Amino acid sequence: METSQAPGPAIRVRGIEKSFKDLQVLRGVEFDVRSGSVFALLGSNGAGKTTLVRILSTLLKADAGTASVNGFDVAAQPGRVRESISLTGQFAAVDEVLTGRENLVLIARLRHLKDPGAIADDLLARFTLTEAGNRKASTYSGGMRRRLDIAMSLIGNPPVIFLDEPTTGLDPQARLEVWQTVRGLAAGGTTVLLTTQYLDEAETLADRIAILHKGTIIQNGTLAELKALLPPAKLEYVEKQPSLEEVFLALVEGGGIDSATGGRADGTVQAGKEIQ
Ligand SMILES: Nc1ncnc2c1ncn2[C@@H]1O[C@H](COP(=O)(O)OP(=O)(O)O)[C@@H](O)[C@H]1O
Ligand SMILES: [Mg+2]
Repeated sequence: METSQAPGPAIRVRGIEKSFKDLQVLRGVEFDVRSGSVFALLGSNGAGKTTLVRILSTLLKADAGTASVNGFDVAAQPGRVRESISLTGQFAAVDEVLTGRENLVLIARLRHLKDPGAIADDLLARFTLTEAGNRKASTYSGGMRRRLDIAMSLIGNPPVIFLDEPTTGLDPQARLEVWQTVRGLAAGGTTVLLTTQYLDEAETLADRIAILHKGTIIQNGTLAELKALLPPAKLEYVEKQPSLEEVFLALVEGGGIDSATGGRADGTVQAGKEIQ
């Protein structure tokens, strides 16, 4: 079943375990991501989201368990997995000295693709960067830079893309821009696994949400399924559906959320709420 023709899940994770010395980070993680869907891996800081993404993108070996991406086993066929994916991390891999267009052309050349200029122009148009294409990336806003970074990671049309906290550190406008980008990817049939510590991001973007807590997936479902875990809060005569935030807090029992301000420890004001 693990062939490129198999119509199975785009990502399949079974019993993945990973420790760093005495620290057991992943203790048997299991989930599937349907091809063409957006899957949000939600977890607090330090929950192990990046560790799992690094295992799935072949940068790190698991201690136990199996995983496949695009039908290829991450341990046995790492080269085929790498051909199938792109990975965008928290820190944009954009070269600031180059223009947006030059950044894209550079990557297309590195991948030995035909007509790098046309590929670059197409991506600039898709990411609403055509006008800014001939400006140095150093003049770009945070949102533009992250969009360019995601555009760069799409060169070669990988069917699966990992976005590790794609909006952490972005201002509210830039977050909205990145959200639009992710929606566009999903609409184009790309499978997206994104990690986030922002509940509203998962709520807005994801077809399915899995909560990674204490090394395992403690819940996995659609937003409606997760909300159905809690009974509607009864007001006097109005039924109020629980928010994802309430579901999350009930599940992880007392992870604190700075719901008053949505403020980050570094003082940056964020539109979304962050799990501390
Ligand atoms: N290379 C490493 N060596 C030792 N500890 C690590 C390493 N990578 C991650 N960790 C630890 O593993 C835990 C999970 O980290 P990480 O996967 O980065 O979490 P998240 O991305 O959810 O914030 C953290 O406690 C972190 O300090
Ligand atoms: Mg991380």
